[in-house]
Amino acid sequence: MTRWFDLIADRKVIVCCGTGGVGKTTTAASIAVTAAQAGRNAVVMTIDPAKRLADALGVNGLGNTPQIVDGPWPGTLAAVMLDTGETFDDVVRRNARDAAHAERVINNRFYRNVAGTLSGTQDYMAVEKLAELTESNQWDLVVVDTPPTRDALTFLDAPRVLSRLLDNPIYKLVTSNRGGVFQIANRAAQTIVSQLGRVVGASVVDDAVTFFQSFEGMEQGFRDRALATSALLTQDATSFVLVASPRADTLDEARYFCEQLTSNDLSPDAIVINRTLPRPGVDATRAATLQHQLNQTSLESASIALSDLIRLSTDDRQRVQELAALAPEALLLTVPLLASDIHDVPGLIDFASRVCEPAAD
Ligand SMILES: Nc1ncnc2c1ncn2[C@@H]1O[C@H](COP(=O)(O)OP(=O)(O)OP(=O)(O)O)[C@@H](O)[C@H]1O
Ligand SMILES: [Mg+2]
Repeated sequence: MTRWFDLIADRKVIVCCGTGGVGKTTTAASIAVTAAQAGRNAVVMTIDPAKRLADALGVNGLGNTPQIVDGPWPGTLAAVMLDTGETFDDVVRRNARDAAHAERVINNRFYRNVAGTLSGTQDYMAVEKLAELTESNQWDLVVVDTPPTRDALTFLDAPRVLSRLLDNPIYKLVTSNRGGVFQIANRAAQTIVSQLGRVVGASVVDDAVTFFQSFEGMEQGFRDRALATSALLTQDATSFVLVASPRADTLDEARYFCEQLTSNDLSPDAIVINRTLPRPGVDATRAATLQHQLNQTSLESASIALSDLIRLSTDDRQRVQELAALAPEALLLTVPLLASDIHDVPGLIDFASRVCEPAAD
């Protein structure tokens, strides 16, 4: 427990990842609660547009700016729900020459309708928001709750996502570095643009061309920022926490997340196995004897349930060992299956207090 506490007391960024429904949001919120209890200023940020984080914290709604959640702690707890569009607007404003330049880009129809939905934009903006929060100097710790998709860690690719946007064929066609003048670069490009216009509609192409033209001067700012944000994810003060369940189907998924981290030269610093079953104080042989003795009595079904629980919790422990073997360096933690969902601060405090290292066999 102390090592878990040390991790939460020491890191600047903790990213919770794992497959759907295992308890990422609850774990992320409980980490922020533990940090606030330790006197830190912690903010938990969710990339998931579903309202689960607000639900876990027992608040009505969350937005793109940190909202303070009150609780019995000396530190601060706040929560943010990433709004990709608003974050993109903020980035444009920061990189624009002046307010008029920013408004030109933001009001462009291509930007409004397409830019925010380009694949990878959400990933890029998630890292952007993370950087904004860490740079604000307001927060000692930013906890990131990732969405329930198998590719939740694609934001590790943020710089490549940005290059995809900037390497967009239309962007390349309309930009020319000669003398800093941005224009449809040559006759061949004009032909391609007009052919494209016949397929997708001339106004769509016009909007896109205007958008990329107005992007002039922002490119370097975007590229520099992407490098800085990717450095943020690989720094020592950033930890990844893999959340998993002891159920049979999660091993493959947990392995997949470990591989995703490894391919980015990262590894989880902790594995949280959520919803573990209690370990009865009797062994399987004793339970079988009990079941035999209680045969056809009113306690027979209870003795059968005890045997089942022993079998299930033994299987769980076996799988916990297999999960631990995926990242031998990681701190292994368990959280028991609780009687009810977690949907308010007292529930999160309770959840946080139950995170512990598994007892040795
Ligand atoms: N240890 C636990 N015992 C009982 N219920 C739990 C436990 N951990 C989480 N839950 C409940 O399980 C549900 C799913 O948890 P949570 O939303 O944290 O998972 P998630 O991994 O973030 O899901 P998603 O992948 O959909 O984002 C919630 O209703 C939560 O309150
Ligand atoms: Mg979630």
